[in-house]
Amino acid sequence: MAGGSGPTGRGVTISGWGASLPETVVTNADLTTLFDTSDEWIVERSGIRSRHVATGPFVPGPDAHADVDGVGTTATLSIEAGRRALARAGVEPSEVGLLILCTTSPDQAVPATSAAVAASLGIGGGAMDLNAACAGFTYGMVAAHGMVTAGLDRVLLIGAETLSRLTNWTDRTNAFLFGDGAGALLFEAVGGDDGLLGWDLGVDGSLVSILYADHDGSGMVMKGKEVFRRAIRATVESATASLERAKVDPAEVALFVPHQANWRIMSAVAERLGIGEDRIASVIEHTGNTSSASIPLALVEALEAGRVHEGDVILLAGFGAGMTWASAVWRWLG
Ligand code: ACO
Repeated sequence: MAGGSGPTGRGVTISGWGASLPETVVTNADLTTLFDTSDEWIVERSGIRSRHVATGPFVPGPDAHADVDGVGTTATLSIEAGRRALARAGVEPSEVGLLILCTTSPDQAVPATSAAVAASLGIGGGAMDLNAACAGFTYGMVAAHGMVTAGLDRVLLIGAETLSRLTNWTDRTNAFLFGDGAGALLFEAVGGDDGLLGWDLGVDGSLVSILYADHDGSGMVMKGKEVFRRAIRATVESATASLERAKVDPAEVALFVPHQANWRIMSAVAERLGIGEDRIASVIEHTGNTSSASIPLALVEALEAGRVHEGDVILLAGFGAGMTWASAVWRWLG
């Protein structure tokens, strides 16, 4: 679906941000105890050196798998990231009109994980989950922006995952890729300028079979090469469409925040767009692929590092299972 851009009558800014990562860090060396692999192979193929996990064989405790009431769930990670974003903005949870939780690893099939998160945070308005796999957070940005322009004063957008629960820890072809975490942004109405300059959303549901996880617990199934090839093409095409709608040249992009799936994909997309590697926001080395959480985790780290300044143009672009893709061009209003 093609997206628009331009004046909406009501400006939207990002006024708060926060992140959360589980304590347990699993290195590539740790993975060599589970299957035949090496640190060199994983770093060369993906750029990943370690990942944070909330569940699985490396999490201490009698039950390695967190339950919905336990620590390290999609909800607990979301709550921590959301609380930090609200504190940063100086906003009370009761002032938030909508919570959108982007996740492909909800804690339960029913209800939406956002319900528990909203209750714990004390969100004043509604709450819903959004699942567009690894493109989810960018879909969420467009949705959050739309709800603010439609009349809500504040929308809290969280991307959170416990992909460790969907990982088959014996499958060396993809277990090294995934990690857990959460990132959050608070969208607020402002008079005047609007942050969203252009966007693009898409899906090709004929490609479900190249990346999926069933309810039977057998873990993530992925045709890696096929995903790799299509991911680069879809992300470049979507980002190009968003930049054109925003009337922004790639040379004007101060920061590129791609979905953190694989450093080779991220750098290939940047190269094709004409964006230098020094302008990529990357956390893949220490988080792995955290699906819906990856873009906010990378953006929050860039913000905390002082890499974003008032007036900067930020390009966000992701792709994921479905196959979905999404991109957005955002001007940082400060
Ligand atoms: N350690 C060592 N060797 C391995 C491992 C491992 N962990 N896994 C596979 N190999 C071997 C294979 O058996 C194969 O050996 P062979 O040539 O003797 O048969 C060889 O390494 C090459 O394997 P390929 O699968 O061809 O490796 P490739 O270069 O394609 O890299 C990778 C694999 C990293 C998974 C790559 O295909 C990729 O990144 N794909 C996209 C992944 C992605 O982005 N997924 C997520 C997108 S959506 C979402 O985020 C949920």
